[in-house]
Formats: sequence, structure tokens, C-alpha cells
Amino acid sequence: MKFDTPATTNPIDERKVVGQPTDRIDGRFKVSGTAPYAYERHDVAPNQAYGYVLGAGIAKGRVRAMDLTRAKAAPGVIAIVSTLDMDRLELGRMNTASLFGGPEIQHYHQAIALVVAESFEQARAAAALIEVDYQKQEGRFDLGAAAGNAPPAGGDSGEGSGAKPVNGVGDFDGAFAAAPVKLDAIYTTPDESHAMMEPHASIAAWDGDRLTIWTSNQMINWGKGSIAKIFGLRPENVRLDSPYIGGGFGGKLFIRADAVLAALGARAAKRPVKVALARPLVINNTTHRPATIQRIRIGATADGKITAIAHESTSGNLPGGRPETAVDQTKLLYAGANRMTAMKLAELDLPEGNAMRAPGEAPGMMALEIAMDEAAEKLGLDPVVFRIRNDTQVDPQNAERPFSHRNLIGCLQLGAERFGWSRRVARPAQVRDGRWLVGMGMAAGFRNNLLQKSAARVRLGPDGIVTVETDMTDIGTGSYTIIAQTAAEMMGVPVERVVVKLGDSDFPASAGSGGQWGGNNSTAGVYAACIKLREAAAARLGFNSSEIVFADGEVRAGNRSAPLIQAAAAGGLVAEDAIEYGDLAKTHQQSTFAAHFVEVAVDAATAEVRVRRMLAVCAAGRILNPKTARSQVIGAMTMGVGAALMEELAVDRRYGFFVNHDLASYEVPVHADIPHQDVIFLDETDPMSSPMKAKGVAELGICGVGAAVANAVYNATGIRVRNYPVTLDKLIGGLPEVA
Ligand code: MOS
Repeated sequence: MKFDTPATTNPIDERKVVGQPTDRIDGRFKVSGTAPYAYERHDVAPNQAYGYVLGAGIAKGRVRAMDLTRAKAAPGVIAIVSTLDMDRLELGRMNTASLFGGPEIQHYHQAIALVVAESFEQARAAAALIEVDYQKQEGRFDLGAAAGNAPPAGGDSGEGSGAKPVNGVGDFDGAFAAAPVKLDAIYTTPDESHAMMEPHASIAAWDGDRLTIWTSNQMINWGKGSIAKIFGLRPENVRLDSPYIGGGFGGKLFIRADAVLAALGARAAKRPVKVALARPLVINNTTHRPATIQRIRIGATADGKITAIAHESTSGNLPGGRPETAVDQTKLLYAGANRMTAMKLAELDLPEGNAMRAPGEAPGMMALEIAMDEAAEKLGLDPVVFRIRNDTQVDPQNAERPFSHRNLIGCLQLGAERFGWSRRVARPAQVRDGRWLVGMGMAAGFRNNLLQKSAARVRLGPDGIVTVETDMTDIGTGSYTIIAQTAAEMMGVPVERVVVKLGDSDFPASAGSGGQWGGNNSTAGVYAACIKLREAAAARLGFNSSEIVFADGEVRAGNRSAPLIQAAAAGGLVAEDAIEYGDLAKTHQQSTFAAHFVEVAVDAATAEVRVRRMLAVCAAGRILNPKTARSQVIGAMTMGVGAALMEELAVDRRYGFFVNHDLASYEVPVHADIPHQDVIFLDETDPMSSPMKAKGVAELGICGVGAAVANAVYNATGIRVRNYPVTLDKLIGGLPEVA
């Protein structure tokens, strides 16, 4: 189905099932421990052996030699695969660093060997006996030092699509120089880790030249293509299966060493092999969100109209890697005739930087929305009012291109009212509650909405059960549930009559889970397949009207009706289709919007920060399931608190690795850190986005939260921290005198 004109009224608008707060249909399996994650799939292949990955102990250089003698003789060892056994493997899609093969070391903990043994402990013990002779080279590990000479780099946050290194319209320099009120400040965000609960894990089995990998991966079709390329296999001989995923956040968008080494290990051991990356390898062997140094300049008239805005960002990556596209939202979020965005990319020899939840906008909004708070203060304007005054309904770089639907002002106004923003004391460090300094902060939220082709197959069985098959993944997001709701709505059956099968590359290729595009696109693909199934069912039942209703288990037209199950009486029906998009995303800018409000308390003596209240108001098109969408947003808000107050991969600039490579020292929020969170969704639809009229929401939820927290800390203390995370060491010296 080609979607190239705005959606009109369709069966989803009935909202009998879609839009309802249906419980997660996988929730019962997850909380009862019966949803099998990749490493636990003991039943899919017999006689599984255990692989243990050895990571390089240097950050840059070569492996001169490896002595495997003692490791091979260790108890239980079946096979050892060494990086010196083969040339460097091809890269998979979106990979920057080599996953295996050849002597060259590009980053710390790059995989250099896999030991396969009868037990995990035997494999790990034997790996410790491998002796590696390294030839070490100097590496570049300091973004601050490399930033000065970093060359310009292009790219945008559409997960790989191109954009020029420098963008803009008008005369930024002239307008900024002439602006009566100016802000010019530098902000930094650190390297961050996805820190998902489930580590990367795969079980691989060969059958001749057919390879099956049971894995934990967000993008099955990308992964299948990558594995076929890396191993020189025909795509039809590769199967990936990933029905349950314990979090990904972008860290599992691409094939990683667990999948590649499980396949190599299984070939060497001549039996199925399972590999999980130990936590230190999740941090240093896989990918992370790169640190940024961002300069923002805002020039405004005395009454608070932005006349000039510039956002420049420098990040680092391995040679051949991409920049963190932190300037993206600044092209679109606020009005202003004279504007410029630019990125630079320094070559570093740290582990690979790549996508992490809302790549680009998440760190970009952390900087931009402090800058907006600072500019509002200079103007003597309330920060909510300042943002409303600079709203735009068109792409500020191209007035011919309107937003498909934009209600940022609605988010800001409703949020201010519900949060009690009018009680905020604008002057900082004025509110005390016992030993606590109390403050409120806010920020806008913004993330683009991306359209991706997505296919599905739908069956109507003789038992009346509707079965959906698509390689879409559920990374904890609720995909199973919203897909079941979509099929139930389309076919007029209760959601309990729908079976959803996901994550298998033998199913039609979906959009996958990335870039907050999964929900809208994967359900639109199911919508397309259901339209075909409805046509087939109607034809079987002898309906020839175009005004057919599927409801309450019946097919109805005019005054005739028939049970849907009857359409499958002579054998089941099956239909397959994909949603494909035309030019609507080119003619109209599709984005999602939010307003974040936060209240914090800062201990007047110790500078400990406690978040007291959080509210997000989101405008993201139709909300397909308010319960799963709320879960996504509160999870993202929690991640935003982590980014604001805790998360930072500590770079060892001598040896070139992330020191805090475990969940004890890479701090993320725990329940006790997070207060009650409120989420409000504006009741809206976006007919440009798909027949579902929905947009992404899961990454929107994180964008802006960090700045809202930092702005609240400023309001509480009067201390403006521009270098994340806002830890107490950056506050304690500036606290007001304790009485
Ligand atoms: Mo998201 S970083 O595209 O999984």
C-alpha cells in the first residue's frame, strides 16, 4: 500500500481497540520469567556449547602473536577461534569498527578470540590462559584536545541519511552582532552507555551453509543482511530470531560481536554455540553515545523574538564513524530568520560511537534547552513565554514547508497549568524547605518522526483466530500489544482473538525498532496487510459493496451480515502487504513535541539533588495505547534524569577505555531516585504520518528532560552547570551560605 496522500477516515478511527490502554500481552511472560531471552533458548538447538569472548587489552595497535597452547589444553575446551585465524571480516550495516578478524586493534576490548567449552566457567577460565603479544601504538582519547582541529562533518539523526556539515539561512553573524540581547555559551555532554539490562547475546547453529542465529536485536532485516554479507551467505540461508529483547536503546540496532562470534564458534566446534557479552564488553566492545562539545548562540530583540540562532557541535569517533548529530533540532524547533548549524568530527581511538536513544536530539536538547533558559533569563521573560513567542508552524529554513501537525504551544500551556508553574519564583535560590533548596525547571521536547517501509502477513484461521507475522521487534516497547490492537480493530475481533508473532527474519520485513519509528510504521504495515485480508474475506463471503464494516466478529454491508469466521470455513485466508511512503515527509516536516516540567530539591549542605516531581505533556499524533506509550515516556524521563544527574562513561585518557564498565560504577537512576511521574498526551492525530495517524513517542520522552532538570537545579541554587552530568561536586562550592 502506497501512502502518499493524507489519511482520511478509516477503520482505525473507530478506536474500539486501538487507543485503549490494553495490558501488554507479553507482560505476563516477562514477569513470570517465561519469556525466553536469547541466552536462555535452551530448546532451539541441541547440545549447545558456551563461547567466551576475549577482548583486546590495548586500545590501538596490533596483535603480533597469540599463544593458545595452555588455553587449548584447559578442561572442557572444544575450540578456539582467534582473530589471527582470518582476515578482517566485512563490516555489517552501520558498523564502524571491525567486529573480528585480522591483527589490527582499533579500540579497547575489540574481540580477539572466542573460546568454546562445555561450560561457561571452563570457557572463561581458558580465555584467561591465552597469552597475547601486542604491539601498542599511541591513540587519541581526548575529545577536548582533538576538538580544535576537528574537520566539518555532515549527517542527520535520521539514522544514517545525509545532511551538509553546515546548514543555515539568512545572515547569522550580522544578525547576532546586531541583536540587543545575546547569549553565547558552551555546553558539554559526556559519553554515555545504553546500559540495557540484557547484554548482547546470541546462539548460532549451522546446517550446511544455512545459519540460524537466535539473538537479541532491534533490526532483524538489517541484521540478516549484515550476517549474509559478513559470512558470504545467500540471504535466504540466514535466519535471525529475536522474539524478546531485554532493552536495546540503539545498542542492538546493528550486528555485534556476540552474533558474529557465535557463528564462527559454532562452525569451529561443529555444534551450536551461545555467546553473551560480559558487562565490560557491553561497555567497551559495543557502542556508546559519543560525548559532545556544543556552542549555542541566541540573539533576540528586547521583547524576546529570536533574530539569530546558531548551534555548533563537536563529537569524536573512530575513523570512518559518524558524528553525534546534536544540532538537528535547532534547525526546526524555534523561529528566527538568521540561523546556522554546524558539526565537526574528531578522530578518536575510543570504542565506537553510535546511536543511543534519540541520537542527536537527546544530547542536543540537553544543551539547547539550557541555552533557552539562559536567554529567557537575560530577557527577563518567563521561559514558557519565551518558547511560545518563538513558535513556528513552518520549517524555519524553508517557509514553503509546513509542519504536518505541531502543537508545542499546547504542550507548554497545559504543562504549565497542570504543574503549577505560576508558583515558581523566577529569581533563583529563593525557596527553602527545611534543609532543601527547591527549584522548578522546564524545557521543550522535540524529536523527528521518521517513516520507514514496513511489511506484515495476516492470516484468518478456520478457528477465527487472526495471526500476524512480521519481523518487527518488541524491545520492551509494547509492539506485540499495539500490533494485536491494530489487527483486532481492522478485522473487527477482540484483541484476545489475535496472535502476534514477531522477530523472525522468515516473516515479512518490518521497519524494526529504531529512531522511535517502530510503533507507527509497523502498525501501518499491519494495517496494509489487514486491508488485503478484509478484501479477501469479503470476496469469500460474496460481498461486493465498498462500504463494508468489520465489527463484533461480523462482516456487514447494507442490511446483510455474516460471521467473519465463515470466510475461513473453506480453508484459512492469508494476505501480505507493506506500507510504503510517498513524498509527505518531504513536503511536510514531521516531528513530535513535548513540554517537560521538573521540581528538584538540592541539599543546602551537601548539594545532593533529589528530583521531586516530573511532568511531560506530549503531542505525538494518535496514541495507539496510552498505557504502553506512558510506560515508554516515563522510562525515557527516567533515562533523562540519569543523563542529567549521573550518567558518564569515564574516559581513561592514558589507556583509552571507559573505566566504569559495569552497572556498579556506571550509574543510572534506581526507583528511589525517581518520584511520581505524570504524563499527559494531547488528543491529536497526524494524517500525514500514516493511516494510523500516529507518530513516535519513545524517544520524544527523553528529549529535553535533562535540561529541565538542570534548569530546575539552577532555579533552586543559582548555579548554572553547563557540563553534564550535574553532579554535586559541580554545585557544592557555589551553594549559598548555610545558616
Ligand atoms: Mo534508537 S537509538 O534508533 O534504538
